[in-house]
Amino acid sequence: MAAIFFLLIYLSSSGQCVRQEIFESHIANYSNKFLFAVPKNLSSLTTVLDISFNSIATMETSEFNYIFDLQVLNASYNKMKYLNSSIFKFNTQLQYLDFSHNVLRNISGTFPSHIQHLDISFNNFQTLSVCSGFGNMVLLEYLGLGADQILKSDFEGIVHLHLKEVFIELNSLNDYENGSLLLLNTKKLTLDFGVLSNEDRYNVLFDAVNTTSVLELSHLQRWNIHIDPKKYIFNIVQNSKVTDLTMRHVNVEWKMIVLALQYIWHSSVETLTFYDFSLKGLIAKTSFDYSNTSVKAVNVQGVNVGVFQFDQSSVYRVFSNMNIENLTLNFASLLFMVCPLNSSTFQSIDFSHNALTDDLFKDCFTLINLKRLKLRKNKLEKIYKLSAMTENMPSLEYLDASHNLLAYDEEDCHWSQNIVELNLASNFLTASIFKCLPISIKILILESNDITHVPSGVTHLDDLVELNLSFNRLGDLPDCSNISSLSLLGVEGNQILYPSIESIESCSRVKHISAGQNPFQCNCELRRFINQEKEAPGTLIGWPEAYVCKYPDHLRGTMLKDFYISEITCNVFILIPVIILPIIISIALIIGLCKYLDGPWFLKMIWQYTRTKQRTRTSKQGYQSLQRDFDFNAFISYSEHDASWVKNIFLPSIERSNDCIRICQHERNFIPGKSIIENIINCIEKSYKSIFILSPNFVQSEWCHYELYFAHHKLYTENNDNLILILLEPIPQYLIPSKYYKLKTLMAQRTYLEWPSEKSKHGLFWANLRAAISIDLTHAESEIPYSISSENPCSISSENPHSISSENPYSISSDNPCLGTSENPCSISSENPYSISSENPC
Ligand SMILES: *[C@@H]1O[C@H](CO)[C@@H](O)[C@H](O)[C@H]1NC(C)=O
Ligand SMILES: *[C@@H]1O[C@H](CO)[C@@H](O)[C@H](O)[C@H]1NC(C)=O
Ligand SMILES: *[C@@H]1O[C@H](CO)[C@@H](O)[C@H](O)[C@H]1NC(C)=O
Ligand SMILES: *[C@@H]1O[C@H](CO)[C@@H](O)[C@H](O)[C@H]1NC(C)=O
Ligand SMILES: *[C@@H]1O[C@H](CO)[C@@H](O)[C@H](O)[C@H]1NC(C)=O
Ligand SMILES: *[C@@H]1O[C@H](CO)[C@@H](O)[C@H](O)[C@H]1NC(C)=O
Ligand SMILES: *[C@@H]1O[C@H](CO)[C@@H](O)[C@H](O)[C@H]1NC(C)=O
Ligand SMILES: *[C@@H]1O[C@H](CO)[C@@H](O)[C@H](O)[C@H]1NC(C)=O
Ligand SMILES: *[C@@H]1O[C@H](CO)[C@@H](O)[C@H](O)[C@H]1NC(C)=O
Ligand SMILES: *[C@@H]1O[C@H](CO)[C@@H](O)[C@H](O)[C@H]1NC(C)=O
Ligand SMILES: *[C@@H]1O[C@H](CO)[C@@H](O)[C@H](O)[C@H]1NC(C)=O
Ligand SMILES: *[C@@H]1O[C@H](CO)[C@@H](O)[C@H](O)[C@H]1NC(C)=O
Repeated sequence: MAAIFFLLIYLSSSGQCVRQEIFESHIANYSNKFLFAVPKNLSSLTTVLDISFNSIATMETSEFNYIFDLQVLNASYNKMKYLNSSIFKFNTQLQYLDFSHNVLRNISGTFPSHIQHLDISFNNFQTLSVCSGFGNMVLLEYLGLGADQILKSDFEGIVHLHLKEVFIELNSLNDYENGSLLLLNTKKLTLDFGVLSNEDRYNVLFDAVNTTSVLELSHLQRWNIHIDPKKYIFNIVQNSKVTDLTMRHVNVEWKMIVLALQYIWHSSVETLTFYDFSLKGLIAKTSFDYSNTSVKAVNVQGVNVGVFQFDQSSVYRVFSNMNIENLTLNFASLLFMVCPLNSSTFQSIDFSHNALTDDLFKDCFTLINLKRLKLRKNKLEKIYKLSAMTENMPSLEYLDASHNLLAYDEEDCHWSQNIVELNLASNFLTASIFKCLPISIKILILESNDITHVPSGVTHLDDLVELNLSFNRLGDLPDCSNISSLSLLGVEGNQILYPSIESIESCSRVKHISAGQNPFQCNCELRRFINQEKEAPGTLIGWPEAYVCKYPDHLRGTMLKDFYISEITCNVFILIPVIILPIIISIALIIGLCKYLDGPWFLKMIWQYTRTKQRTRTSKQGYQSLQRDFDFNAFISYSEHDASWVKNIFLPSIERSNDCIRICQHERNFIPGKSIIENIINCIEKSYKSIFILSPNFVQSEWCHYELYFAHHKLYTENNDNLILILLEPIPQYLIPSKYYKLKTLMAQRTYLEWPSEKSKHGLFWANLRAAISIDLTHAESEIPYSISSENPCSISSENPHSISSENPYSISSDNPCLGTSENPCSISSENPYSISSENPC
């Protein structure tokens, strides 16, 4: 029940996810499709419509009124001259509208009130009077504008909006009314001066620095502050409220930059950022007054140097001596950096994406406050030199030297004692790096190196909490037993086929392991690893998506969570009881059956029985075609010694059954006036089968007759099917005289039934025998006038043996085998066996 309940919850929640995803990702992208009108066959589920970079000149209500879910419309770079903003009145979800880079001159109507982002910059607006119609968009966060003329009255309609960012493009500005920008209520103001070069830009700037605390200025290339720096820069910075100043595309001479920096240094600015900073003009040593500044962070992203020969250190020195907290110089083509002269205030330095070498800050003792140093993507080569550099930075806690050319050749390492986080990702480090690590390290990132294993004997990583060995060449999880504090281990993207049990156990205290994207071999060894996640869900980061079988081939692509291999297949200790034990038991059972219950005997008898039955069935026709009438099922011959067994056991058992079996016993069915031998032969001829009760006595006393008989009736006797030998007692081979060919053959063929001594076997013995001799005698009965008792058709009265026809078919010719001749085969010994005793049938 509980399982079904959870399943239902899972299904319903996953269904929700899917629906949401479809809802969120209905993008119709018709960007750059040479359209002249908005497509009319859009899905009504469209949430994002991009029709930018086309030639659309007009838009109609009918083109949007069916897209109720439309959230984003990007119509930038089109040919719209006029927009009736009421056409979106049915798009109640619309939040984002971009009509920038069109040729709009006027906008009528009103935009939906829930618009958050509206960009109408880079159009052909004469004035910004359209803004007076934007007062209803109380959720507006971003507003992009641009016009030839900016008047105070334009912004009066939107002073009540709490904007996050206003972008004003000033390319074509030719008339600015002082104080207009001050009306804007926004957190950030971005001004793009474009190609503007007239005096208005200064008036705009005067207002801008008093409008917001976050100001971004773009395209300052023609900024001739040197003409009258006092007027333009000093005034601006004097009463500014800007704390966060960003300048994009600054293309001014070095001298001007230093001058501007000097003014900014004594302004309200705290964070100064340059994007795309171009150096030109003469670069010479300049003095700089660092005192009394509020600047805390300088960030330079991208420096283009248009000068080829210059004293780099005079540039670097301006930066290195800055008394600020944070200095970032990225993509600045730095080759080196000079050491700050006095004790530096730097707390964080980011020199990523440069060309710095191992000599950086060599023997530099002034970076005493530095806590964080980022040197990502440089040209550092020797890790021992890097360590020696940090040795003089007593406050250093964080060092990022990833994506360099670092290698370790087992030199002595001298790390700063306080480094807790070290990122050495994407270098050329091998397992030896574990001999060169700061002792207090807590977070170590060695991703994308050439590490094959974590060497044993690593004893100084007691504080290590996070170890990232992703994308190396590990063949197994590291042994975590000496990294006692480890709580996050990253080994994704290595060569781990299956983590060894020892490593899994040594890492069992690690809270999170990220081991996805390994070429997992889905076999028994992997189960321990999979079970770990099942026992403590959440241990494996990225489970289950990132954990996929790679080997064997037929399981490739199967997620580990879906991989199942039975306990039996894997566990030898289970294999023994489950497979080997039953085998042993069966063998013991078989042996027991053979030994105590004579299983083989039963099997043999049952086999014989079924064969006989089958033969009888298939050859029914054969008997009929034989054209012979039998009066008896079988003739029985035995030695007088065995007579009691025959009379007391054999006959009652075989005749009592309901099979109507008749046995011809020469004593019982004796025809008077015939010799014993004639009677016997008569019996044989009238019987379907002949049964011989074999015993040593029989062989010695009786068999001779039959040997002779068989010799003469070769044709008949060749068919051994008619003979049934019952071995009453074992007959040793030597007792059979060598001239008894027939008997020897029969014995050799083992085509006899052994009389079992165990009572339990008797039933099967009789069944077998009956099956062998059973034949339908009804045909014969009609012709042979037996006196049959009315009750039992089978019981032949002993008093009245069958009346024999006048014509005796058994008239035995002179070649009576028992008439002893010189060739008498029965003369076994000197003593004629045919006259041994009175019982001798001969
Ligand atoms: C539409 O495709 C263009 C490129 O063909 C791509 O720049 C733009 O981001 C796409 N728009 C959206 C909404 O994904
Ligand atoms: C709309 O029609 C244009 C051709 O007129 C076709 O290219 C586009 O795939 C259709 N869009 C949809 C969503 O059916
Ligand atoms: C149009 O604007 C959307 C939303 O910002 C943006 O995803 C898409 O990339 C823009 N299209 C182009 C061509 O820049
Ligand atoms: C602007 O569109 C709305 C709604 O479609 C319409 O009622 C109004 O007349 C249109 N205004 C102009 C000036 O076309
Ligand atoms: C802009 O359109 C409105 C209404 O259609 C009109 O009143 C106004 O004069 C137009 N302004 C310009 C500059 O064309
Ligand atoms: C606008 O302000 C600037 C700087 O304060 C000033 O030089 C200029 O005369 C002002 N213009 C007008 C029209 O007041
Ligand atoms: C900024 O505003 C203050 C008054 O709030 C004023 O004294 C100062 O001159 C203004 N600065 C500029 C550059 O306009
Ligand atoms: C530094 O600022 C203090 C007041 O904050 C002021 O008294 C001092 O003159 C300033 N010094 C310089 C060099 O600007
Ligand atoms: C300096 O950098 C640190 C770390 O990146 C940061 O937390 C801090 O806010 C930065 N300080 C300034 C003034 O930007
Ligand atoms: C270095 O410190 C000395 C005095 O301690 C001071 O005179 C000098 O101006 C400082 N230099 C810099 C670049 O701060
Ligand atoms: C753990 O440290 C001990 C010595 O402290 C060392 O003998 C053992 O080899 C180390 N084990 C591993 C797996 O590094
Ligand atoms: C290891 O570093 C890689 C790349 O930076 C990152 O994707 C992964 O999440 C990190 N793993 C851990 C466990 O922090």
